[in-house]
Amino acid sequence: MTNPTLLILAGDGIGPEVMGQVTRIIDWYGKNRDLAFDVEHDLVGGAAYDKHGTPLHDDTMAKALAADAVLLGAVGGPKYDDLDFSVKPERGLLRLRKEMDLFSNLRPAQCFDALADFSSLKKDIVAGLDIMIVRELTSGVYFGEPRGIFEEGNERVGINTQRYTESEIDRVARSAFELARRRSGKVCSMEKANVMESGILWREVVQKVRDTDYPDIELTHMYADNGAMQLVRAPKQFDVIVTDNLFGDILSDCAAMLTGSLGMLPSASLGAPNPDGRPKALYEPVHGSAPDIAGQGKANPIACILSFAMALRYSFDQGDEATRLENAVEKVLADGARTADLMGPEDGTPISTTEMGDAILAALDASL
Ligand code: NAD
Ligand code: IPM
Ligand code: MN
Repeated sequence: MTNPTLLILAGDGIGPEVMGQVTRIIDWYGKNRDLAFDVEHDLVGGAAYDKHGTPLHDDTMAKALAADAVLLGAVGGPKYDDLDFSVKPERGLLRLRKEMDLFSNLRPAQCFDALADFSSLKKDIVAGLDIMIVRELTSGVYFGEPRGIFEEGNERVGINTQRYTESEIDRVARSAFELARRRSGKVCSMEKANVMESGILWREVVQKVRDTDYPDIELTHMYADNGAMQLVRAPKQFDVIVTDNLFGDILSDCAAMLTGSLGMLPSASLGAPNPDGRPKALYEPVHGSAPDIAGQGKANPIACILSFAMALRYSFDQGDEATRLENAVEKVLADGARTADLMGPEDGTPISTTEMGDAILAALDASL
């Protein structure tokens, strides 16, 4: 039997640093769990621009479409701030999402017990938190037309368009309901139907999908601004949240801090199933390239490592092995392993990115 294929696009800034720890874990699974992958590395973002003059080469796009799963680190950085918009690092990532048709972006926010004290919120508000934000990822204001900067009279106007079709809303709603069935059965849909027509349609379609095919799901609707407030007031009222591309981007960064650090949050971007039943899929941490700490060995690799755990679960049907990796992360945190983002200035000396990788590998060894 041939091994499943992984395309690794480490990207920019801390991307290669955190991905370095993931490749060690991939090797561990090959050696210890009879779970070998054929891994190929390629460039995305600023790194691809530096080599090819484009943030995503067509050959890389083709490899991504052919791979069983793609793992991505992060893209972007100040070096690329002045580039033309069309070749900015972020365009590479957006092209991957669009051409792979990764419409459902799963962003779990889970507060590990060991970090409950470290959240910027009170411990009892976040302890035991386990929510899943499902962010629509291939449409909305990120992609709607018309868009651009145009001359209008004697000034310029910047235009982006929020646009959702019924079928785009329908498919992401279904993915949220399917997930909810495997969790608590509760979904909260967030939009701004009070001010946006796209929000009115969003609410109608989500409700219709629920009434037609998911009557067992308890569905509520909330305006997204209230949702942001409720996420910091009482986040445990939520289980699955389904929302559009832009609201999902903002709400998931907000949810990240409930868990202690943006360096903790993984994500899975899933498309429609291939003929083999595996969805097109890209796994990436929610955080960016963190230019302020890049190159210093300080980055927390856990978001990227937990993204690989999501790959094991959603692309390779290896839920038990995903749980093994998540438990290893939980154990090292319980034992006190902390990168700099997980401690205050008075809390002692943080460990490095590689040392966090070492600790997680040791915990994996101990799990055998
Ligand atoms: P960022 O997520 O890169 O960083 C925000 C803050 O969180 C920084 O202080 C950073 O040091 C910290 N941080 C993030 N990840 C961390 C980790 N793993 N360990 C420790 N600390 C961590 O967001 P930003 O500064 O707004 O953006 C920087 C660049 O990254 C921009 O070019 C942006 O477009 C890009 N970006 C890329 C992605 C992606 O590739 N998926 C996501 C978000 C931002
Ligand atoms: C994210 C990022 C991206 C987004 C950028 C880098 C294109 O912020 O994945 O959350 O806005 O979707
Ligand atoms: Mn974001």
